[in-house]
Amino acid sequence: MASSNKKLRSQSWYGGVGRDTFIHRSWMKNQGWPADVFDGRPVIGICNTWSELTPCNAHFRDLAEWVKRGVWEAGGFPLEFPVMSLGETQIRPTAMLFRNLASMDVEESIRGNPIDGVVLMMGCDKTTPSLMMGAASCNLPTIGLSGGPMLNGKFRGKELGSGTGVWQMHEQVRAGHMPVCDFVEAESCMHRSKGHCMTMGTASTMACMVESLGVSLPGNAAIPAVDARRNTLAQLTGRRIVEMVHENLVPSRILTRQAFENAIFANAAVGGSTNAVIHLLAIAGRVGVPLALSDFDKLGSRLPCLLDLQPSGAHLMEDFFYAGGLPAVLRELADSGVLHRDAITANGKTIGENVAAAECWNREVIRAFGTPFKPNAGIAVLRGNLAPDGAVIKPSAASGRLLKHRGRAIVFENSDEMHARVEDENLAADENSVMVLKNCGPKGYPGMPEVGNMPIPKALLRKGITDVVRISDARMSGTAYGTVVLHVTPEAAAGGPLAAVQEGDWVELDVAARKLHLDVPDAEIAARMAKWKPLPLPARGWTRLYVEHVMQANVGADFDFLVGASGAEVPRESH
Ligand code: FES
Repeated sequence: MASSNKKLRSQSWYGGVGRDTFIHRSWMKNQGWPADVFDGRPVIGICNTWSELTPCNAHFRDLAEWVKRGVWEAGGFPLEFPVMSLGETQIRPTAMLFRNLASMDVEESIRGNPIDGVVLMMGCDKTTPSLMMGAASCNLPTIGLSGGPMLNGKFRGKELGSGTGVWQMHEQVRAGHMPVCDFVEAESCMHRSKGHCMTMGTASTMACMVESLGVSLPGNAAIPAVDARRNTLAQLTGRRIVEMVHENLVPSRILTRQAFENAIFANAAVGGSTNAVIHLLAIAGRVGVPLALSDFDKLGSRLPCLLDLQPSGAHLMEDFFYAGGLPAVLRELADSGVLHRDAITANGKTIGENVAAAECWNREVIRAFGTPFKPNAGIAVLRGNLAPDGAVIKPSAASGRLLKHRGRAIVFENSDEMHARVEDENLAADENSVMVLKNCGPKGYPGMPEVGNMPIPKALLRKGITDVVRISDARMSGTAYGTVVLHVTPEAAAGGPLAAVQEGDWVELDVAARKLHLDVPDAEIAARMAKWKPLPLPARGWTRLYVEHVMQANVGADFDFLVGASGAEVPRESH
């Protein structure tokens, strides 16, 4: 094991004899710790997002025990601590409203405590970026450990993917093609083991981002939560963080521009979620790496998708693991000259070294770079008078026939109106309609919910139409699909031109030309905007702080005052 003579940060609490060290050690001894755990060994904080209200992370107390084994083995002292946990499927009005709050919890919990290195236990969607953002702002040695995906959902002999299956079956119920009793039965078949969503939704995407950024050990993204090798990885992660403390391998050495570019490459190759755009921009903002929305298009949009996984494809995360997992994908990128092989990773090796011998065991699931699942599949960034600062679309999840489209707008002023009107059998919509949803951006909702994949109007579903162009300032679940333009910036509630769209306006989408255009004269748009009034500010509390400080989606929707890092200098004594 590597070691250094440097006095560790935790010794500012536990080193020497005096009133304050008495206080710090004595109260800890109420848990039964012997004196020698305070002898200068690395104190490893295990930052845990366990919660019974975050079902995807509900096994994390058990998993943390495996991390602790590894920390003890390597000569460290593990201490587990909870942080705010965001259960995507439980918390309202949207988990995204609290991502920045959770990141502040993480940052201050790390900095304020006698911690020398951190293991981030991440799983459900927002638990990954919030922990990464908070830890990046502290810049103590940090390693990521994902909780792993659930086993494949199975329903009547077929694969049933998290989220993706809900959207599909619900449309079938609304169209009258699936009995409600079948729909209810599927609830128990979709999620049948511990772990996070097993589609390439936001959780799996962000687990792939953590691995491709180099913040975790290789193989972290795809090992199922119930597989014994997830426990093994946790133990190895615990061993490794102790070494990282001795090596002072801090996030700012790993999270370089090259690492973020590798993450963008990987996101394209796995058909990852559009949510990765917002989260990677926010993480980059914390470490001071210049990363722009346009980078996702420049670097990723022309890359192929290699992974045949829902929602873009057919398979699920369990299949991905058996096929070789992310290392096999990264090797394809490396062998094709796409990956920055020299980027350093948490195990001290380069990402190129980590994946050089990675094997693919199933070419149906992970395709070769030269014969991809889908060409030009990365996220495209659109601009135009409807989105001056950008909007995104995931072409791999869209209908090819709609990627160049002109249609009349059906406008919803907010999500409540949208939910009510899509159920109206008399809604004047046809297959060329363009659904436009306003006031669902960071400030407007507030919190930028995953409502951008608006349900197809019932009137259209009955005619067998399953996709139309949808445009909003919202996000969409990584498990969702369709010709959906998201993250329109500036959002309507910030006075963006989206606010000016009226029912019946012509809207043009041209993904190849990266264009999103409102076909209304400039003077008319200006006249409409002159009459526009901002929404009232929330009266108090978190939502008030959120609306006053959240930035737009094109820069990651972080708070203006959280951009950057404060480091991990030892705070002054508390008594
Ligand atoms: Fe938690 Fe999908 S709801 S990962």
